[in-house]
Parts: sequence; structure tokens; C-alpha cells
Amino acid sequence: MQVYTTKTELSAFINREHNPVFSLGFVPTMGALHAGHLSLVKTAMSENTLVVVSIFVNPTQFDNPQDLSKYPRTLTEDIKLLETLSKTAIVVYAPTVDDIYGVQTTAERFDFGGLEFQMEGKFRTGHFDGVGTIVKRLFEIVKPTLAYFGEKDFQQLQIIKKMVETSQLPVTIVGCPIEREPNGLAMSSRNSRLSFEEKETAALIYKTLQTVKEKFQLELPKDISHWVSTQFSNHPLFELEYFQISESDNLTPIQQKNQTKTYRAFIAVFARDVRLIDNIALN
Ligand code: PAF
Repeated sequence: MQVYTTKTELSAFINREHNPVFSLGFVPTMGALHAGHLSLVKTAMSENTLVVVSIFVNPTQFDNPQDLSKYPRTLTEDIKLLETLSKTAIVVYAPTVDDIYGVQTTAERFDFGGLEFQMEGKFRTGHFDGVGTIVKRLFEIVKPTLAYFGEKDFQQLQIIKKMVETSQLPVTIVGCPIEREPNGLAMSSRNSRLSFEEKETAALIYKTLQTVKEKFQLELPKDISHWVSTQFSNHPLFELEYFQISESDNLTPIQQKNQTKTYRAFIAVFARDVRLIDNIALN
């Protein structure tokens, strides 16, 4: 498998591969790959001639330096996993911070039309400026036809779609369904930091969301939110950071349902210092 660590080498390779029917799929990741990432890569492989997977733990999207330093880094294992899918149809771009940022490791400021002030944006200051900065830079380097993002980070997916629309970037964004562990826990690189007991107990997060979906038929959002809080209050392992029912497209929280709109429920929970997020479509 080809692994490039500089944008110059990666661009030279992609330019050589170009032909009139060439389609380039792109799966940006921060590594510590799991079945969720592999499913994005498989979808990308089924729709493109070549797939670039970037592996880069982006410092500008972390508001917490400890979260950044503890983020799992497993490049050798990641490459081996990707090789189980293909050694030729996938190339890896694993740049250094220098290759991406040069001398200034800082984020650009973005206006995502208000999407950035909800949920993750409230609790992780500057997070989406960091995500916007890296994704835009990676799009400029890789120049993909289609780029694939998981719905586990649904707010990120909406923000990237917004950025592509407002900056008129020549790429199509494809959202892909959440992959789950057998107990329902959404797959995430952070799960590797959970103990066996925490992983088992974290089934509660998705179970709660499934019950929320049932309750949504009959109950008011504020009553459902109250019920969710009670599920986590005084829990021995988990602490609820937020729960929110929002319109799917603009992510604003709702008080009442409107039959013509689509809604999603979002949750963030801490297991010690490991932050887990999940969401579910409600209608
Ligand atoms: O979802 C992620 O892993 C990251 O936010 C992304 C999109 C790779 C940007 O660093």
C-alpha cells in the first residue's frame, strides 16, 4: 500500500493516476481505525476509481490538550487494516503537522450559519473552526470527487455540507450510517480507551436513544429530555453532558413537533474522561 507523508508526493501520485473517467473518493480520519471507518472506505471503493484515506490527528480541533495527547495513534495497525480491503485501490495520506499547517498551527474562523453554536459547539470551544480548517485544507490537497463522513458526527457532517455549499467547493459530501458494536455502542476510536465494563455498560447510550425514538411519538421534547436526565443521574460510570432533540437540517432544538420536518436526538456522555457521542433519527 502506498503511504504518503507529504502533500507534494500525494499530489504527484494523484496527478499520475488521473484519466478521463477518474473518480477520487476521500475518507478523512484521525486514525485508530475501526469497522466504522472501514465501512466508509468500502462505500468509497464501490463508488470511485481510487480512494485516499487521510490519517491525521488534527491539533486545532481539540479544545482540551489532554484529549489531544491521549488520542490513540496506531498508524501501523491502521495500514494493516486498510490492506485487508485493498493494497492498490487505497492510498494513505499520513502527514505531519508541519506538512498541513507549516509554521502556524492555527484554525481559520468560519461562519457555519449557526450550526456551530449547537451541542458540540457549545461544549468544545473552537472545535468546528478546527474541523473546517483541516477538512478544507485536505480537500485542497486531495481534490476529491466524493468525500465520505459518518453520521455518528452528524453535526460535523452538516457543518461540512454547509462549508462546501458556502465556499462552493468542488466536492460532493456523502453521509454514511453509524456502525455499532453488537451491544449498540456507536463505533468510535475513543472506545479503545474504555474498560471492558465501561464498554458493556455503554450499551445504555443507544438503548436510551431507542426509547427516546419510541417516546417521541407521544411525548413532548422537554419531558423526554427530563427522562433522559433521570437515566444518567447518579449513574456510577457515566455522566450526561447534553441531550438535545433538534431539527435535522439546522440542528435547532425543538419544543414542539411539526409533521413536515425531520428530527434527530443527540447525546454526549462522559465515561471518566472519555467523551462518547451518539444520535438517532426520530422520524
Ligand atoms: O471525524 C473525524 O475523524 C475528524 O473530525 C476529521 C473529519 C477527520 C477531521 O479531522
